[in-house]
Amino acid sequence: MRRKIKVAVIGAGRVGNSHIQAILKSPEQIELGGIVEQQAALANETAKTNNTRAFYSVEEALSNTDIDAYVVCLPHHLHYPIGKQILEAGRHVLIEKPLGIHLREVRDLIQTAEKHGVYVMSGQSRRFYNPIQQAKEYLPAIDGPTNLLYNFACIFTKDSAPVWWREEKKTGGLVLGMLGSHSIDMTLWMFEGRRPVRVYCETRKITDVFEGDDAGSIIITFDDGCIATNYLSICHSPLKHECLIEGRKGSIYFNHEGDHDGVIGTSATKVLVNGKQLDTSDDPDCFTLQIREFTSAILENRQPSTSAQNVYSSYLVLEAAKESAKKHQSIDLREFI
Ligand SMILES: NC(=O)c1ccc[n+]([C@@H]2O[C@H](COP(=O)([O-])OP(=O)(O)OC[C@H]3O[C@@H](n4cnc5c(N)ncnc54)[C@H](O)[C@@H]3O)[C@@H](O)[C@H]2O)c1
Repeated sequence: MRRKIKVAVIGAGRVGNSHIQAILKSPEQIELGGIVEQQAALANETAKTNNTRAFYSVEEALSNTDIDAYVVCLPHHLHYPIGKQILEAGRHVLIEKPLGIHLREVRDLIQTAEKHGVYVMSGQSRRFYNPIQQAKEYLPAIDGPTNLLYNFACIFTKDSAPVWWREEKKTGGLVLGMLGSHSIDMTLWMFEGRRPVRVYCETRKITDVFEGDDAGSIIITFDDGCIATNYLSICHSPLKHECLIEGRKGSIYFNHEGDHDGVIGTSATKVLVNGKQLDTSDDPDCFTLQIREFTSAILENRQPSTSAQNVYSSYLVLEAAKESAKKHQSIDLREFI
């Protein structure tokens, strides 16, 4: 017998709102169980607007046993401790990317979830864009990928970025933690079935607004010699967010427009296969499809598609990229960790 999953959102900031709207778009399957936000005025206002309860701390929310699952939308350094707290309380959790600052934290979240018989999902929202899922289905037709170029170049300023971005210990390396956690996962997903064997990364600081490096490049080599390059920047204007995938029999190209304007995750996505535009739709948006996957997995008692276990290799590559950038050397993943 299907029942509804009651989900509370922790953190009523930029992305918290996208998750709240996604939950409200799925009333047959999901009920909004509350908003957890440490800023009381924001908690009250968000709860009122969305017709739900406000909690002012995670402890207070967890003492309500009617909430089945949580979505963590917090600064990066809080993902691991709060995610772990939720898992130890026997609740499922969807944690915004990255799952933790360090790979050991990701490993511990996996072990904690398995110990308590619950699920931990990584918020790889970009995999859930409808048009990108369609684009991926064309990979066999182009006999690819052989090479991939992912360009995620956006603009954040002192005024538009959350205050916690200014402290490197809270972001986990700024551009790598922030954008690399998306681009690496997208890359590995497109190369599904191949094994990443080597990573080389360089990062640098262009502006003085934030503490960490704000731009960089990552090169990932796979076991069959295929190469993927990610270019990342948070100081590029106007935003350019696109991906070029080569195969032996053609190419796939996609881009997003407007996914940092208004509600995060709502964008116009264009997909071209061999230069011809596909007829795609961004409705439902990626956050809606993501939360439906999370709650369906709970109801069906299976791992979500982007569970921490399933995307572990993305976090391995992310950690290797940070290490490579620090040492200015390529990292052989077969000897790493
Ligand atoms: N998937 C995506 O496309 C996407 C897009 C943007 C951000 N993100 C991710 O979402 C996460 C949050 O980013 P954001 O931009 O929404 O940040 P934000 O600063 O806008 O929101 C964070 C909120 O958490 C609250 N908060 C902080 N500590 C708290 C605590 N202990 N208890 C309760 N509330 C607390 C803050 O008051 C703030 O309102 C980050 O991991 C970020 O990388 C993902």
